Amino acid sequence: MCGIIGFTGTLDATNVLTKGLSQLEYRGYDSAGIAFFENESIRTIKTTGKVQCLKEKVEAANVTGATCGIGHTRWATHGGVSDINSHPHTFGNVTLIHNGIIENYKELQEELALQGKTPVSQTDTEIAAMVIDDCFTGDPIEAIKKADARLEGQYGFCVMFKGHPGKIFCIRNGSPLVATHAEAGSVIASDMVALLDYSKDYFVLPEHVIATLTKDEITLVDLEGNSVEPEMLHVDWDVDAAMKGGYEYFMLKEIHDQPDALMNTIRPRVKNGLPTFEADNVPDEVFTHCNRILITACGTAMHAGLVGKNLIERLAKVPVTVDVASEFRYNEPIMDENTLLITISQSGETADTLAAIRLAKEHGAKTLSIVNVKGSTIARESDYVLYTHAGPEIAVASTKAYTVQLSVFYLIAARFAFVTNKLNEEETKTFIANLENAIESLNEILEKEMDFDEVSASLDNATSLFYIGRGLDECLSREGSLKLKEISYIHSEAYAAGELKHGTISLITDDVPVIALATQHNVYSKMISNIREVKARGAKVILITNGEDESIDESICSFQVSIPKVDDMFAPFGTAVIVQYLAYFCAVRRGLNVDQPRNLAKSVTVE
Ligand code: G6P
Repeated sequence: MCGIIGFTGTLDATNVLTKGLSQLEYRGYDSAGIAFFENESIRTIKTTGKVQCLKEKVEAANVTGATCGIGHTRWATHGGVSDINSHPHTFGNVTLIHNGIIENYKELQEELALQGKTPVSQTDTEIAAMVIDDCFTGDPIEAIKKADARLEGQYGFCVMFKGHPGKIFCIRNGSPLVATHAEAGSVIASDMVALLDYSKDYFVLPEHVIATLTKDEITLVDLEGNSVEPEMLHVDWDVDAAMKGGYEYFMLKEIHDQPDALMNTIRPRVKNGLPTFEADNVPDEVFTHCNRILITACGTAMHAGLVGKNLIERLAKVPVTVDVASEFRYNEPIMDENTLLITISQSGETADTLAAIRLAKEHGAKTLSIVNVKGSTIARESDYVLYTHAGPEIAVASTKAYTVQLSVFYLIAARFAFVTNKLNEEETKTFIANLENAIESLNEILEKEMDFDEVSASLDNATSLFYIGRGLDECLSREGSLKLKEISYIHSEAYAAGELKHGTISLITDDVPVIALATQHNVYSKMISNIREVKARGAKVILITNGEDESIDESICSFQVSIPKVDDMFAPFGTAVIVQYLAYFCAVRRGLNVDQPRNLAKSVTVE
């Protein structure tokens, strides 16, 4: 959702803030703003549009000597996209930025109205500024403490108070805030990516703890006034990992990052050819004491869960259900101490996924999460964590985070099957060797990049299409379809190939292309029959096969695209890269902003 940054130190704050906002822009990009101390007073510059629009406004403002300020990129929730609704918001002595939602803002607004105080914007955030100002009698920390008791919802705030130059006060409930004190000063942000220029050591601000940032230090106190020691974390991402590295778009770079990201995720967990989670502190009892698995996540991460279900059920023979996290807790899931809830999240901050973990814990179930961001809330609240090592993923459309999530499921399924004697040592080693081979083979697909541009050209006029597949290919169809919708805005639907004829085939015409995934040999001939059915209704078909099938001709498809031949169970890696490329080139060919598609946010921290 929104991106937040605060800086106080020895550098030009407007530069630090606008640079940080560019790095955080993937979190939200409908408007942006900064506020900073200019001598004793606070000045705000904000605008709708991209961070670039803000930068232009800041340059024109000729600011000099600002060393303390706060900045925000917005993804609108309450109140439309307008200059006035952009952050920072000021009321009385208080200027703040906010990530989250104040759920009781209406009641608070009514209370404040009784005192004759009215907001100028339509946002819940301005109400928070009004509440903090209402609680302020000269001591910022006391004001935040009192306001914290009145505010309900999720929030990460960075607040500046008139009369307290050089200082930023922060508190959070739910929404992420990470901070570091480095040589240049103190920095706080909603995301580690914005801290990388200053330090790789950082801490997650504990919930309901107030941080005071000055140029010399960051101090933390809890609501009772006790000082709190931050728990330091180290990230091995480097600044380059968060840059485009010569690629036109982050998404393209991240597609190319996949072989390395996958190997970085797998290698530390393979010893003598066998999968192990010893270094992750995940004991085998997690698997041996489990008779049921529930998987939940959102978006692309949920699609990784669908593949996980297929693998675990096939290998470990334990029943698995998969649900989107926004539905999970409302479906009254059956959980007990023998249930394992596996959640998946790139950011580790997705609100619905986090809520599922909390519910599972109430039921006594064990929770294991697959997370990319170290120290994130989901990682901290889960009983066990398996970190993926994708590095920072900046493009809103997830690519490498998805395939590394898949790889962790391959390891889980193999370890689970091995420790419960469903696979013997030799079979497990063969499985892991096949996994590594499938990952290595991705380089061959990356080398053929421009072939996918050519295939995508056949979709230039498409406004609606279908992805079809069976088994693992059905799971991959869902991801391919989502990727295409997210960034190319082509309407697309993923369908189980055999189900199409039960109604939906009525939508197939010569204007509606079909992308058919057919990498699974046990259902290959059935897939070919399904393809013939859509072909007979005029569809232009793009067929994706596992190794080239020379018997395929134009009577079946317009294009055959093949992944390098792998054992069927490992085809999802190659297929994932191909569907990512198809979406990428469709978006590029339509002249769209691939990395920042309309209406979307990378990290969804509200329900
Ligand atoms: C958003 C992103 C998706 C992502 C989903 C879950 O919708 O745009 O790319 O898959 O959230 O995010 P998470 O951080 O939990 O993986």
